[in-house]
Amino acid sequence: MEERSTFQGKLGFVLAAAGSAVGLGNLWRFPYLAAKYGGGMFLLIYIVLAITFGFVLMVTEIAIGRKTQLSPLKAFGALSKKWGWVGKLATVVPVLIFPYYCLIGGWVTKYAAVMATGKVSAAADDAFFGSYISATVDPLIWFLIFIGATTLVVLFGVNKGIEKLSRFLMPALLVLTLVLSVYVVTRDGALEGVKYYLLPNIKDLSPKTFLAALGQLFYSMSLAMGIMITYGSYFSKEEHIEKAARQIEVFDTLIAFLAGLMIIPAVFVFSGGNQEALGKGPSLMFVTLPKVFNSLPGGGIIGTAFFILVLFAAITSSVSIMEAIVSGILDSFHISRFKATILVAVFGIAVGIACSFGFGIWSNFTILGFDILDFLDFVSNSVLLPLVGMLTCIVVGFVIKPDAVVSEIELNGPFTMKRFYAAMVKWVAPIFIFAILVSGILEGFGILKY
Ligand code: TRP
Repeated sequence: MEERSTFQGKLGFVLAAAGSAVGLGNLWRFPYLAAKYGGGMFLLIYIVLAITFGFVLMVTEIAIGRKTQLSPLKAFGALSKKWGWVGKLATVVPVLIFPYYCLIGGWVTKYAAVMATGKVSAAADDAFFGSYISATVDPLIWFLIFIGATTLVVLFGVNKGIEKLSRFLMPALLVLTLVLSVYVVTRDGALEGVKYYLLPNIKDLSPKTFLAALGQLFYSMSLAMGIMITYGSYFSKEEHIEKAARQIEVFDTLIAFLAGLMIIPAVFVFSGGNQEALGKGPSLMFVTLPKVFNSLPGGGIIGTAFFILVLFAAITSSVSIMEAIVSGILDSFHISRFKATILVAVFGIAVGIACSFGFGIWSNFTILGFDILDFLDFVSNSVLLPLVGMLTCIVVGFVIKPDAVVSEIELNGPFTMKRFYAAMVKWVAPIFIFAILVSGILEGFGILKY
């Protein structure tokens, strides 16, 4: 058998895992959810969940991967025959995410092009985004460019180059986000937005907010979809899992936090901080940021740089989402890598086109009241991710027992959170995730009212 390659040192692992984790989830999804679900309360719940459930699941997945040296599809089966299906369920998530992730990647590509051709003030117009995504052909062109680029990288494996490049580009993104958030926060009228974003308001405390934060946490850290198991299988036996997990978490949360600090106060400065402007959902980043760039001297250049960096973050993530599906297919069926990749691309294009039409010519077609993109997003993030997260905890807590994970972590020194970990993974996490999942879904459908 081929020797499984390992990452060079811990930094290599942390950077690779962070490269997969940092993407549209941090820059596009986190700010719009925070704006929609009450700002400060969402942020608070998110951080609490990150240091508890997020941490537990992150060390669990890396440890399972390193212990079994297998991909998620087989790793669960290797831990327990009866529970192998959890691995299969985890691999369904990237399949649902991939098409719409690439569609939004296409929106980012379009905005990079709009900024680069000096049309900043046109993009800053309120109607620009809505008329763009509801068009029939134009969004598809940008979507095809993005998914085509992703497919090429997966086919030809130029991701070595991409990885090298992202070592420069990710820090650049961090710096630019930092600069922009300072600029926004120091504008007149931004203070209201900063307060909205940082101060929790008790009226926003509801199961729906919890569910949204939990789903976002798993999505943003690429948890509960087998990705960190795969990365864990490449993780060197010499390194300490607990420290690496913490570093990935801090980095990922920092970028999401700054993205919120850049976008939410900007909604107050440039669009008036009313509920309607805050509730814009998926369009928030695309509607608000062009207004910021339009107000900046040299905004065209800064806007171009920003969207190109976001584009990069998105590509590194979309490549790993596609790779997760392709390797799942290769693990289960005897077909060539080339065929599997093309198959996934064709599937992604078909479903992505449907998502795009969902904003235009098919906008009358909804599933349970969601448009197509929102539906895929809801099923994958708000239903499947918490479900798989909960099942993972149950398998570790009761089937293989927490000690199996603890001993893997302790190969490289003491696990400081050992007691906390065992209690969390066995009881607290599964019970809470279950409660959040059920009450959040019921409230989402208006069955449970507060
Ligand atoms: N975590 C990524 C982000 O924040 C998105 C993502 C979701 C992802 N699922 C994934 C990345 C699977 C890699 C693999 O944008």
